Amino acid sequence: MRLARREAAARPGRNGMSPIAPAKRLHVITWGCQMNVYDSARMADVLAPLGYAPVAAPDDADMVILNTCHIRDKAAEKVFSELGRLRVLQEKRRLAGGRMILAVAGCVAQAEGQEILARAPFVDIVLGPQTYHRLPELVARASRAAGAVIDTDFPAEDKFDHLPDQSAPQGLTAFLTIQEGCDKFCSFCVVPYTRGAEQSRPAGAILAEARRLVAQGAREITLLGQNVNAWHGAGSGGQPSSLGRLIRALADIAGLARIRYTTSHPRDMDGELIAAHRDVPSLMPFLHLPVQSGSDRILAAMNRRHSIADYLRSVDALRVARPDIALSSDFIVGHPGETEADFEATLALVRRVGFAQAYSFKYSPRPGTPAASAPQPVAEADKDRRLQTLQALLRQQQAAFNAGCVGLTVPVLFTGPGRHPGQLGGRSPWMQGVYVAAPAALIGTETLVRIAVAHPNSLSATLIKERACA
Ligand code: SAH
Ligand code: SF4
Ligand code: F3S
Repeated sequence: MRLARREAAARPGRNGMSPIAPAKRLHVITWGCQMNVYDSARMADVLAPLGYAPVAAPDDADMVILNTCHIRDKAAEKVFSELGRLRVLQEKRRLAGGRMILAVAGCVAQAEGQEILARAPFVDIVLGPQTYHRLPELVARASRAAGAVIDTDFPAEDKFDHLPDQSAPQGLTAFLTIQEGCDKFCSFCVVPYTRGAEQSRPAGAILAEARRLVAQGAREITLLGQNVNAWHGAGSGGQPSSLGRLIRALADIAGLARIRYTTSHPRDMDGELIAAHRDVPSLMPFLHLPVQSGSDRILAAMNRRHSIADYLRSVDALRVARPDIALSSDFIVGHPGETEADFEATLALVRRVGFAQAYSFKYSPRPGTPAASAPQPVAEADKDRRLQTLQALLRQQQAAFNAGCVGLTVPVLFTGPGRHPGQLGGRSPWMQGVYVAAPAALIGTETLVRIAVAHPNSLSATLIKERACA
C-alpha cells in the first residue's frame, strides 16, 4: 500500500503545467510516508507559478528538494549521503555558470535543521513540513542570499489556506491530506515533534479538493493523516465532525469508486467509522491499524493508550461490520523493556488476528523521545532475532491470505500497463497488486477478474468479461 513505504519513495513530480518548455527544472526526491508524497506534489504546485516544472533527474535541475523522513535512524542518514551526491552536481552547475538551489524539507529538516546547515553548508533552504506555502518567498531569499535560509516554524497561519487550489493531476489514485500532526506522544516516535499538534482540515475544503481530484481523473482517493481517524474537522454546520461522517459525504461524489484512509490509531477507531465500513460500499475493505506490540506492559511503556483487549474489540467489530475486511499493522520489536514473554505475546496477537500484510521494525532510538533514554534497552542480537521470527510469521500469513484469494471474483481498479506486453496492472480491494491480460481501454475502470495464481507479493488473474463493473 505504501509506495516503497517510508524509504526511498523517490518519485519524479507530476507535470501538470503548460506544454511550453519549462523555464526552470525542479527535481523532488521523496522519502517517508504518503503524507510526504502528498506534500512533495503540493510543493511542486506552489512552485509552478514561479516557472518550475518537475523533471525526472537531478542532473541539470535548477532546484532539488529532498523531502525527508526522520522516523528511524537510517532514514536520516540517507539524507546526508544523498546530499553528498547532490553537492557534486551542484558544483558542476556552478562551474558551468548556473545554479542549483538545494532545499531540504520534511521531518529531518524540522528535527535537525541546524545540524543540516552545519554538516552540509552548501544547502540553500531548510524548511519544515508546516511552511511549504512559504516556499516562493524562501526561494526568492535564497536566490539573493549567500548563506542558507531556514524556516522550521510552526506558523499561526494554516498552510492549507495558503496553498494554491490549482494542483497537478495525481492520476487514477490520489492522496488527500485531511489531518496533520499528532498529540499522542508515543514513547518512541518523533512525529509529534516534527509535525506538531494535531490539526484537522474542515470538511468543506476536503470535499472541494476531492471533487477537484475526481474531475482531474482520480477514481480512488486515500485520505491521509498521521492519525487520520482522529480527524474532527468542522462539518457542514461548523460543528466538529467525524471520519465516519466525512467518508459518507465523500461517497456521494459521482465517479469516486474507491475510498481508503491511513494511518489510523486503535484508540480513535470509533463506532461511526466502523459503521461506515458496514454501510459504504466504496470504502475499501482494507485497514492499516498499527498495534506495535501484543503485550499490554509494552503498550503502556510505549504510551499507546490502548490495551490488547481494546484492539481486539475493534478488530472483531470491524469483522462483524464488514466480514471481508483485511487488516494490516505496524510492529516494533525491541522497545526498551521488552522481554521474551512480551515478544511471545506479540506473536500470539498476530496468530489471533491474522494479518493480510504488515510492516515490522527494530526499535530505533530517536533523539529527544522518552524511549531513547528509557532503562533496559534490548540487545541488538535479540532485536534481530525477534524481527526475523515475527517477519517469518507475517510472511506466512500474507502468503495464506493471498492463497485464499485464488478462485475469487474480485473488482480490480486498473491503473496502467502490467509487467508484460498485453497486461494491465491494478489493485484488488485489499491492496494486492493484480496482473491481468486485458486491453488498455480498461485502464481507469473497476473490472471483475478471477484470481488465478497467488505470488508472494502479487496476484495473477483472468478477465471475467471485458467490461467494467457497473
Ligand atoms: N501514526 C501511526 C504511525 C506513524 S509512524 C501510528 O500511530 O501507528 C509509522 C510507523 O513507524 C509506526 O507505526 C512504528 O511502527 C514505526 N516507528 C515509529 N517510530 C519508530 C522507532 N523509533 N523505531 C522503530 N520503528 C518506529
Ligand atoms: Fe507517532 Fe504514536 Fe503519533 Fe503514531 S500515534 S504518529 S506512533 S506518536
Ligand atoms: Fe517520516 Fe515524517 Fe512521515 S518522520 S513517516 S515523513 S511524518
